[in-house]
Amino acid sequence: MALQDYLQIRREAVNRELDRLLPAGNVVPEALHAAMRHSMFAGGKRIRPILAIAAAEACDGPPGIEAAACALECVHTYSLIHDDLPAMDNDDFRRGQPTCHKAYGEAMAILAGDGLLTIAFQIIAALDSPADTRVALAAELSVAAGTEGGMIAGQVADLESEGKPSSAAQVEFIHRAKTAAMIRASVRFGGLFAGADAVRYEALSEFGGKIGLAFQIVDDILDVVSTSEELGKTAGKDQDQRKATYPAVFGLAESRRRAGHCLAQALDALSVFGDSAWALREIAGLIVSRSN
Ligand code: IPE
Ligand code: IPE
Ligand code: MG
Ligand code: MG
Ligand code: MG
Repeated sequence: MALQDYLQIRREAVNRELDRLLPAGNVVPEALHAAMRHSMFAGGKRIRPILAIAAAEACDGPPGIEAAACALECVHTYSLIHDDLPAMDNDDFRRGQPTCHKAYGEAMAILAGDGLLTIAFQIIAALDSPADTRVALAAELSVAAGTEGGMIAGQVADLESEGKPSSAAQVEFIHRAKTAAMIRASVRFGGLFAGADAVRYEALSEFGGKIGLAFQIVDDILDVVSTSEELGKTAGKDQDQRKATYPAVFGLAESRRRAGHCLAQALDALSVFGDSAWALREIAGLIVSRSN
């Protein structure tokens, strides 16, 4: 199957499942549920849930990982809503639409983020999976999104480094924490769901960490070289806000080289898999070559 067809089919499955799992916009409190849906259905790439699905497929896992994969997208979308708030990156556009706080006000956007974070764990608790799988998924997601080297830790370091010169080690920590942790968790979700053996789980972890770092390096590069129309969010913001980014620390050419190096290491990690990991390999390539 061509990658674009694969991505479209999986994206549609994820979107259907998200629509089923999120409260409808006319359920009380209506404004809150509408705000959650505004950000969720504004048109994200769904790369994290698709990585979870592809990783489960690589391990020949059973079907039915979509609901668990949606929990990842709920936490990711919450992180975007809060990332865009005036107190954080202060962005007006996201996924080609006004940001949640622009459309619904700041208080409702904070609560919409809280709602998406909370429902992620409600979804995992209610999965039709053995209890030990549900516990493992909840533990994985909470650590990846958390305050000790997880997404929140990365967001703190990102804000604290604004306007200051950054070292290579600092920007690498920020990127591993704020972005790679959640992407690695997405790939590991597939392994946990499929009951992968230790060798395969370790390989997925290594792969996820590398493509996760590449993902944020490319996000930084696109902020410099792409347009707001293409990105669906305002381009050029990182330099304006003097963010700690790979291009700021290393320059564009070296940033591209490092993203390519991460991709090579990621593909290497998948050598324990045969053809069943074809989609993971293709998605890794896309993460580095993408234009939005
Ligand atoms: C944007 O993530 C935030 C980062 C961690 C770089 P995505 O580029 O996956 O955004 P969506 O989900 O497709 O909107
Ligand atoms: C965001 O990093 C990472 C998150 C945890 C949301 P950025 O601030 O660079 O993401 P964009 O560029 O706004 O999507
Ligand atoms: Mg940010
Ligand atoms: Mg931002
Ligand atoms: Mg960015």
